[in-house]
Amino acid sequence: MNILVTGGAGFIGRWVVKKLLEENHNIIALDNLSNGRLLNIEEFKDNDNFRFIKGDIKDQKLLEDLFKKNKFDIIYHLGASINVQESIDDPATTFYNDTVGTFNILERTKIQMFGENAKMVGDKWELDSEEEKHPCKVVFMSTCMVYDKAESKGINELHPTKPVSPYGGSKIAAENMVLSYYHAYGLPTVVIRPFNTYGPFQKSSGEGGVIAIFIKRALESKELNIYGTGEQTRDLLYVKDCAKFVIMAGFNERVNGEIVNAGTGRDVTINELAQIISQDRVEVKHVEHIHPQSEIMKLKCDYSKAESLMGWMPEYTLEEGISETEEWIKNSKE
Ligand SMILES: NC(=O)c1ccc[n+]([C@@H]2O[C@H](COP(=O)([O-])OP(=O)(O)OC[C@H]3O[C@@H](n4cnc5c(N)ncnc54)[C@H](O)[C@@H]3O)[C@@H](O)[C@H]2O)c1
Repeated sequence: MNILVTGGAGFIGRWVVKKLLEENHNIIALDNLSNGRLLNIEEFKDNDNFRFIKGDIKDQKLLEDLFKKNKFDIIYHLGASINVQESIDDPATTFYNDTVGTFNILERTKIQMFGENAKMVGDKWELDSEEEKHPCKVVFMSTCMVYDKAESKGINELHPTKPVSPYGGSKIAAENMVLSYYHAYGLPTVVIRPFNTYGPFQKSSGEGGVIAIFIKRALESKELNIYGTGEQTRDLLYVKDCAKFVIMAGFNERVNGEIVNAGTGRDVTINELAQIISQDRVEVKHVEHIHPQSEIMKLKCDYSKAESLMGWMPEYTLEEGISETEEWIKNSKE
């Protein structure tokens, strides 16, 4: 298969690329390196099936050229601004990358599938027979950060959404566009909502993930800082489980037009997480939250839809994932 991975030089994107290359697909990774790193994809640079393009999903001309030169079978669309706190301080960047960028990918896919001159007459396409056409599935990487907080049971796909940050708002807007292209044009699309993901290659600096940051600080004998009370919970998904889920969604027709969650079904408070990682090596402190209004106090996944439609379930426990991540951080230049 010819596959485009946007955000392919990012943390999750590089794991998606790695697994697809192992399955012998041809991969183009498109990333503007605003948060991704060449170090993440260094391992693939000598693989003939892999090509990296430094470019932006907001660049219409670049997308037009890319889709003229390539016919994609699947697009894994992961390229996005991912930081909740930054989206509050600078909503425009997140909106243009996450919502408008997604719209650009959808439009290009629609043209690839039906041609530039196709018209919808009633509910059918009238295609220009001269133009080259090629079907393509779009997997849109949304997030659990679109949901309202969980009650004691897990969050399934019918749980209410609540855009408490422009990041959540931009993702919900993009999700709706992705689903509208399924309903209005018959594009095979799927919205996936993985819960908070962690593992090797995630940044352990300020804007990284909580597990990577805590492990790095514990290894450096520095205290762990928790925003607010630490009673907020997260359902933490190991990146290898996440990448497997993302890829499976691209090859599964039953999820077309659907929203599908992935998580572990177990949530831990950030206080518990700090204890699991610290193992009493370092002190745990509470500091003032940067933007408490955008905190989601309980996130716990119900992944039964992914299990029944795709046969996906997580394989790693939190402790196993943390242990692999710690090994990686110890041995890397992070
Ligand atoms: N990390 C998580 O916990 C998590 C959970 C659920 C969903 N997601 C989603 O998964 C995707 C990947 O997240 P990640 O954690 O790997 O973050 P990441 O920042 O490492 O990956 C996103 C990549 O997109 C690139 N990018 C941003 N704007 C771009 C643009 N305009 N054009 C081209 N490339 C652009 C960045 O450079 C980066 O490499 C995102 O869509 C994110 O919203 C992340």
